[in-house]
Amino acid sequence: MSHIEPVIRAARESDADAIARLHAESWRSSARGLMSDHYLDDEVYDERRSLWRSRLGSGDSPYLTLVAVQRDGLHGFICFKLRADPKWGNLLDNLHVDPELCGRGLGEALMRVGVTQVEQVAPGLPMHLLVFAANRGARRFYRRLGGVESGEVQMPLPEADRNADAVRIAWATPVRLQAE
Ligand SMILES: CC(C)(COP(=O)(O)OP(=O)(O)OC[C@H]1O[C@@H](n2cnc3c(N)ncnc32)[C@H](O)[C@@H]1OP(=O)(O)O)[C@@H](O)C(=O)NCCC(=O)NCCS
Repeated sequence: MSHIEPVIRAARESDADAIARLHAESWRSSARGLMSDHYLDDEVYDERRSLWRSRLGSGDSPYLTLVAVQRDGLHGFICFKLRADPKWGNLLDNLHVDPELCGRGLGEALMRVGVTQVEQVAPGLPMHLLVFAANRGARRFYRRLGGVESGEVQMPLPEADRNADAVRIAWATPVRLQAE
């Protein structure tokens, strides 16, 4: 499959709505059955838009967010919460690629640029993330990049009072993504 080569740059406040659109579309295509149909059909975009406007609008944010853009728009994003946990270190909080472009190397490119930038601003820490246990494709993707599955956890969902089975994936310090 051909690779695509978008520009990867820091997210700006003006990217918030496009990120929310892609986040909503990605969850509609990958999290159906884990999140309720009501949330995915009626609420996800508004809820994500308010989250991304708030994250990108705050001058003193613990988040580092990058977007992958081409002339025709935004095709992926990655977001880290820096120094999120005293034991597990920096948190990879979100990674989403346009469902039409999955499997062409964009997710890996976002990971590589993101990890390099995180190391510059919050150096010497391990990294972790939580992924839905049922998301086998993403779990394989992270394992291929050297992440180690390090326990099962309950992940709170954006819908009130709902959790999903999840797996923690960790990289020890110094964080090195597996060679291609
Ligand atoms: C997981 C994700 C970010 C990977 O990005 P990507 O650009 O598709 O990944 P790459 O092309 O760099 O790598 C391809 C690998 O990703 C994995 N993968 C996960 N979901 C995939 C999908 N829908 N299509 C193709 N590959 C997928 C596969 O392991 C694949 O490796 P393989 O070809 O050996 O099977 C992307 O598929 C995605 O956005 N998925 C939906 C949202 C999600 O699950 N995010 C992670 C939440 S923790």
